[in-house]
Amino acid sequence: MQLILIVIVTLFVSSLRANEVLVFEDASELVENCAWKIVTVIDGNNKKGEKTVLGLATGSTPIPLYEALIKITYENHFDWSHVVTFNLDEYVGLPHGHEQSYRYFMDRYLFSRLAFPNYILGIKPENIHFPDVRLCDGKDISLRQFTDDYEMLLACEGPIDIQILGIGTNGHIGFAEPGSSFSGSTMVVALSESTIRDNARFFGGDINAVPQKAITMGIGSILKAKDIILLATGANKAAIMEKVLTSSPAEDIPATALHFHDNVTIYLDKEAAPWKQ
Ligand code: PGA
Repeated sequence: MQLILIVIVTLFVSSLRANEVLVFEDASELVENCAWKIVTVIDGNNKKGEKTVLGLATGSTPIPLYEALIKITYENHFDWSHVVTFNLDEYVGLPHGHEQSYRYFMDRYLFSRLAFPNYILGIKPENIHFPDVRLCDGKDISLRQFTDDYEMLLACEGPIDIQILGIGTNGHIGFAEPGSSFSGSTMVVALSESTIRDNARFFGGDINAVPQKAITMGIGSILKAKDIILLATGANKAAIMEKVLTSSPAEDIPATALHFHDNVTIYLDKEAAPWKQ
């Protein structure tokens, strides 16, 4: 693995646990480092005959990570057939096949490229799990039942070995918006105005086209992961990352819940960490 310039900062916030914060020269070094961390865990579990459970995120930030994962996998023939995935969230109200649905996103950027016939050692479709309410179509099942079932599946298949997270400019993780309980499980949420505004860029700039609701893993579900990776790149994430790293945990900034976890690595590029220059 190439030598990577990393500035490692250990921050102690209040009396809480330590987070490792890695600041990279640029996003491509960041994703290569992060992708190697993920495939190393998968490969180690494969060698022990164990599955790996990954928690996956959508949004623009993880796209280069998924590209790096695909490249490293193809070059090194890593085996994904024992990988089980859980996605963090999905909009409520988009039709099947909608290009902005998170299921479509994951198929496009990861699953279809890491699955047979494109890749013989790829992810098995039955190992992909999504909090996608459209899976209820034609079934007599309430939203509440659906979210409880997703949480139950997480408990049965989990714990998640590595949870990948992006962060919203308002500090949300998944779609757990400001004010979400730190102990919350999978739930239906109303998206905040700032999230709708941020995501309008994916809907032709039209805030009215952005769904108002989503299903998301809760912060409590996220904190059950063994290892958490949070990625933030670009200048528009600098202010929230500084806040997250310097604030005591408070529900108005959901990502501050990560201070309660033992094993969090935060990957930033220089633009997202100007306060480190
Ligand atoms: P982004 O979204 O990666 O598109 O900035 C992150 C998020 O809202 O969690």
